Order: sequence, then structure tokens, then C-alpha cells
Amino acid sequence: MATALSVKHLIGIKDLTADDIELIFSTAENFKEVINRPIKKVPSLRDITVANIFFENSTRTKLSFELAEKRLSADVINFSTSGSSVSKGETLIDTVNNILAMKVDMIVMRHPKAGAPYFLSNYVNANIINAGDGAHEHPTQALLDAFSIKQTLGDVAGRKVVIVGDILHSRVALSNILCLKKLGAEVKVCGPLTLMPKYIEQLGVSIELDLKKALQWCDVANMLRIQLERQDLKYFPSLREYTMMYGLNKNILNQLDKPIVIMHPGPINRGVEITSDVADSEQAIILNQVENGVAIRMAVLYLLAANNKN
Ligand code: CP
Repeated sequence: MATALSVKHLIGIKDLTADDIELIFSTAENFKEVINRPIKKVPSLRDITVANIFFENSTRTKLSFELAEKRLSADVINFSTSGSSVSKGETLIDTVNNILAMKVDMIVMRHPKAGAPYFLSNYVNANIINAGDGAHEHPTQALLDAFSIKQTLGDVAGRKVVIVGDILHSRVALSNILCLKKLGAEVKVCGPLTLMPKYIEQLGVSIELDLKKALQWCDVANMLRIQLERQDLKYFPSLREYTMMYGLNKNILNQLDKPIVIMHPGPINRGVEITSDVADSEQAIILNQVENGVAIRMAVLYLLAANNKN
């Protein structure tokens, strides 16, 4: 197995090798043990300063990165657009250069525009970690999702995973597909054809329009929300109709001839893509995903920082 990551930045899963991903998983397993101890802190990132810069809203990713950084003993600063000088016309590069002038070593960035973290990585020396860029990639979400499958089912290779919902606007879908395929899983996407990217099959996935068939096929169903904030067109007649066709409820699960694992990256729109009785059921590993997110982000921060020392 590799002992160091092959990348300086984590911009997307597309840049990682399967060995990189396995290294992140084995490191996260160690950190998961650490964060379940009474004393949850290790000194690995002492004297490293990390800036979390969020140009778009977040609950899980922002808190999870901040906690991961603090568990590793990093110094942490947080920036979000509301209340900042971005509203006065300051550019991304100027904003980041001002943050870097304060001697920041690593930047965790969420941005509504696809490609923003890549753009930044060409201009700054700090390690850049993409915390979600537009409808492009959300690499740490895909890593924690695949890690959660491994922790639940023992392995990812050979598992059948269906990703259900708004594939067109979802950075979680693209990063999950790339990650799961690199690890040897079989992947289907399921949802209305209007929410499927035109060339999705070129990623080695197949499309299933019938939710019940997709669920009967899979070991794991990852339910995505409809990204209404990224839709300026009508892709289906109404949310009610979407729920009738693609919403997951207990009745559908009870018709399957085997139990399946239910995942959701959050935030959940209860009663739209998933009902509460499914989201809160034993089959759902949604909060395990959140717990694993801290360990995965600790692993990514630790391994990128270790590369700087080499
Ligand atoms: N899964 C996820 O990215 O959630 P947040 O938008 O709350 O960070």
C-alpha cells in the first residue's frame, strides 16, 4: 500500500489513485479509534494553520472540517462570505491572498462555481482542499460515503450501489461515481431522465429509471436531494410527482426481497426523496456517515500536511 498521497491538493476524486483512497481509509480507521477515546486530540497538526473559507452555506462539511482540524491540534480560522468584504467587491484571489498573508498553511474551500479550488491551486502555495465546488466535485463526501460502505459491509469492491435523484446538479453524485468505480463497485444512477447528464454512461455507470428495480438490484442506495438552488428550469412537473416516482418510503423497502443499506449525504428534505421512517430506521447509516466524515477529514488533512514535510 502507498505511504503518501500522490497529490498536493485535494481538488477532486478524479486526481486520486485507488492506492491514495485506500491510504486515506486506513489512516481514517486509526483516527476513528482516536476520536472514540476519552481524550480525542492528537498533536499531528500542531503549528499548522488551516483556513476554512466558505462562499456557500454548509452545516456538516464546515463543522466536520473544523472539528477534524481541532482534533489534530491545528490553529483554525473561519471565513464565510456573509459579513465579509466580498460584498464590497473583493475578488477570490484578493480574499485568499489576504488570508494567506496571515501565514495560513492549508485552505478548505467551498465555492458555488465549479473549478474555483482548481483555479486557486494555481496561484497559492497552501494545500487546497475542495469542500464542494458548484455541481462539480465534493471529494471528502465521496470518501466518507465509500468509507461508510466499507465499514458497514466489509468492502466496496463488487458492491452494487445506486445513486438516486438529481444526478445532473449533484457534486456528490459525480465524486461518488468516480470514487466507487476506482474501488471496484458497480454503480447505477436512478432518477428522471431530465436530471441525468447527457454523457453519464461514459463514467461506466448505467441508468435505471424505475426506482423499485434499482433498489431490488442494489446493496446500497444513496438518496440525493433535489438541488432546487441550482435549477433555473423545471425538470419535472412538481415535487409531489417526483416523490411519487423517486421518493423512498418504508412500503417500497418492505417489498424488496433483501435488506439494503440506505445512505444520504444531507441535508435531507424529509418527505421528498426519503420519508422519516426510512431516514431514521436501522437500515439508514446517515449519522454514521457524519461520524466517519470527521475521521476521513482528519486523514486527508494529516496526509496532505505530511506531504509538505517530505
Ligand atoms: N453533505 C454536505 O455537503 O452537507 P453540507 O452542505 O451541510 O455541508
